[in-house]
Amino acid sequence: MCGIFAYLNYRVPRTRRDILQTLIKGLQRLEYRGYDSAGVAVDGSGKDNAVNISLYKKTGKVKALDEEIYKNNSIDFEAELDTHFGIAHTRWATHGEPSPVNSHPHRSDKNNEFVVIHNGIITNYKELKKYLVSKGYEFESDTDTEVIPKLIKYLYDNRENEYVSFSTLVERVIKQLEGAFALVFKSIHFPGVAVATRRGSPLLIGVRSQYELSTEQIPVQYNCGDSRTNEQENNLLNRRGSTNALHSVDDRLAVEFYLASDASAIIEHTNKVIYLEDDDVAVVMEGKLYVHRIKRKAGEDPVRVIQTLQMELQQIMKVILGGLSDHLKEIKRCRRLILIGCGTSYHAGVATRQILEELTELPVMVELASDFLDRITPVFRDDVCFFISQSGETADTLMALRYCKQRGALTVGVTNTVGSSICRETDCGVHINAGPEVGVASTKAYTSQFVSLIMFALMLSEDRLSMQPRRLEIINGLKKLPELIKEVLALDDQIKSIADELHHQRSLLVMGRGYNYSTCLEGALKIKEITYMHSEGIMAGELKHGPLALIDKHMPVIMIIMRDACYQKCHNALQQVTARQGRPIILCCQDDPEISKLAYKTIELPHTVDCLQGILSVIPLQLISFHLAVLRGYDVDCPRNLAKSVTVE
Ligand code: F6R
Repeated sequence: MCGIFAYLNYRVPRTRRDILQTLIKGLQRLEYRGYDSAGVAVDGSGKDNAVNISLYKKTGKVKALDEEIYKNNSIDFEAELDTHFGIAHTRWATHGEPSPVNSHPHRSDKNNEFVVIHNGIITNYKELKKYLVSKGYEFESDTDTEVIPKLIKYLYDNRENEYVSFSTLVERVIKQLEGAFALVFKSIHFPGVAVATRRGSPLLIGVRSQYELSTEQIPVQYNCGDSRTNEQENNLLNRRGSTNALHSVDDRLAVEFYLASDASAIIEHTNKVIYLEDDDVAVVMEGKLYVHRIKRKAGEDPVRVIQTLQMELQQIMKVILGGLSDHLKEIKRCRRLILIGCGTSYHAGVATRQILEELTELPVMVELASDFLDRITPVFRDDVCFFISQSGETADTLMALRYCKQRGALTVGVTNTVGSSICRETDCGVHINAGPEVGVASTKAYTSQFVSLIMFALMLSEDRLSMQPRRLEIINGLKKLPELIKEVLALDDQIKSIADELHHQRSLLVMGRGYNYSTCLEGALKIKEITYMHSEGIMAGELKHGPLALIDKHMPVIMIIMRDACYQKCHNALQQVTARQGRPIILCCQDDPEISKLAYKTIELPHTVDCLQGILSVIPLQLISFHLAVLRGYDVDCPRNLAKSVTVE
């Protein structure tokens, strides 16, 4: 939800054009987090790195902002800036409609003395706003974020005679904030200084220097909530020597910093990053980065380690469950497995529950993270809880993870994003290695989550003799999947012609049961999400308990009827549908004349092992939703109102 990107060059001359391009490119990498509107703040617009801040904002995608900036004749794009700090933001609206005034960066006042970009939600913004309004501060937007620049200006204006450093002001601001945030601040009073902080929303800093970096660890400084001048802050660093901050060993210090909501916006510039922890306040000044916080918590690591991102490597690696090996014994001893996720990731849990139950003989619960938390679900020390998340940042899933950790359960991450919060906070886990998933509607992550959880079931049942024939059948099935997937993809023309017929409809039901129920849920979600048609995934066993009332000759219905243990029961449901003049389009196995006789249309799929069939049967539904969206004239990658990474509860 919202993407943050900021760039600081220190003694690395860059033209204003280069700087703006870096900011825009960073935002484009983060656009999947929200694309209602975008904005940037840079120093000045003329030849100099003037002590005034220019804001450019635009409703719509980042491309629209880019075009807007280049139309602006008053910007000197070729001005060379030796040192500069620019901030940028792409928004997913929570408070206030998408509009230039509601877009970030938000400002303290008409002179842009302080500007801020924010990802998250400030829950006590109404109280803060009321207070600030009573002190004469004028608000221009409907957002929760705007209280932050106003509050920092209020603290700055009321500092009396003390000289307060930028980071101290930020520390004082975050003491007043409730909710979740990743924030980056820029100010005309502290030119060339970047201050960033987070609580509950992700933020990392990439560092690039042409000279060797002097430390791989940044010691955290505590009790810094005092008032310091910038000069004092700098002296403090120098006195403590090179180990207290990250900078180049060489005197000719020249360094670039990239701050972002996730690594995808940083990796093309550098693979050296530090992940900020909740309540860290990071300051970049005079080319040096240091981290401090108000007080140390018990057991807290007093250093932030510079990590080397291994994204490229991860992207080409196959799924391996190596991340679980150290905890395998513990997992095997557990009393219950709980699979927790949201949306598509939850469906991957639904898809694999049955085979997990069969191979592990353990009770398996599948939970929507939000509902799991609402119910205050009992969790025990001998539970193993899986957190399934493509982004690894979904707030509901992350909260559920913290909840389970507090109760002593072993926590396992199944994520696609290396270095994400869920990766870092779980006890162990696996990367699904689906590669970066940029389109908002999750597709390849679903398949890879599905396969990873099947592999986990195989791993847990490795030493059970009685399970070996079944395990072997599944392993052979997995090996053949790539070929079978190609066969399904070859049905695209047929699927498109079905979409041609359906694209004017208002509703589309998807029905199935057993191993294919998750396909119905996931297919219906894809249809809703990108075509804006009403769609429902219906458990075929429940048909007669209500949904049958919807069936007539006009209601489009897709049924999934594969040759598995539920075949006969699905057949019964099919007859109930056709008896009400329903005209079902049926996903079935090749050569099934019984089904073909009753179907309005069929899509014949290759047969595989029952527990893997969902990997094949979801593809026609993903393709139907794709074609429906294109035919209805919608942007398939960026559906309205949604964002790829849902970092608010
Ligand atoms: C649907 C979709 C969402 C996500 C859900 C969880 O296509 O993308 O339903 O699956 O928001 O996201 P992650 O997997 O990142 O936790």
